[in-house]
Amino acid sequence: MRFDVLTLFPDLFSSFVKETIPGRAIAKGLVDISLIDIRSFARGPHLVTDDRPYGGGDGMVMKAGPISRALQSVEKVGSGFRVILLTPQGRLFTQAVAWELSRMEQLVLICGRYEGVDERVRTELADMDLSIGDYVLSGGELAAMVVMDAVSRLVPGVLGGERSTREDSFEDGLLEYPHYTRPRVFKDREVPAVLLSGDHEKIRQWRRTESLRRTLERRPDLLENAALSEEDRKILAQLKESDN
Ligand code: 6GU
Repeated sequence: MRFDVLTLFPDLFSSFVKETIPGRAIAKGLVDISLIDIRSFARGPHLVTDDRPYGGGDGMVMKAGPISRALQSVEKVGSGFRVILLTPQGRLFTQAVAWELSRMEQLVLICGRYEGVDERVRTELADMDLSIGDYVLSGGELAAMVVMDAVSRLVPGVLGGERSTREDSFEDGLLEYPHYTRPRVFKDREVPAVLLSGDHEKIRQWRRTESLRRTLERRPDLLENAALSEEDRKILAQLKESDN
């Protein structure tokens, strides 16, 4: 997976590139991140990358020209290629979108800054736009890191010996069950006995129940699209019952 990040703040990415999962995948040659400074494609003595909005109003708007030239400088390495604009107005980035993007060979991420980006970047240059959630960040850089982290850990070989992605929260549309490690007692709170029982079937049932319980309590909206078995539905019915 190759990421090309178009940004006004390439330095923001240096520890990310070194220290995170994508960083380790880079060392293995499975992921490659290229940072492109939009300012180096600006023109004129002052290298301006933004300008006042047509129609007036506060704030500045990122110009389309420097972004367009930065994009032209990106070397295409394959056919599975998408240009993505990161903006709070974008389509919501979810685990399903992360899977979809992990099948691409190359993603170009355009980080918007300031109050906005000329609309023609979205309509003429980008294939899609993404938002990472319902809040406003001062720029797309953190969102680009979120997307790169979530996508690269789905690229085959990246997680290696680490835990599989299959049981992660959201993979089947549910929140994950709780985890425990030593010590057995912490602040008078004991690890649930079933986890010490060695009974794998009981442990599986307990984890599934806790996963359903958490989702019901914290994110009931997820249950509508979750992959639920007959057994899951029975457990859910019991959980709702015991709640009243
Ligand atoms: Cl992609 N960009 C900005 N600036 N804010 C956001 C976002 C993106 N996603 C959520 N908030």
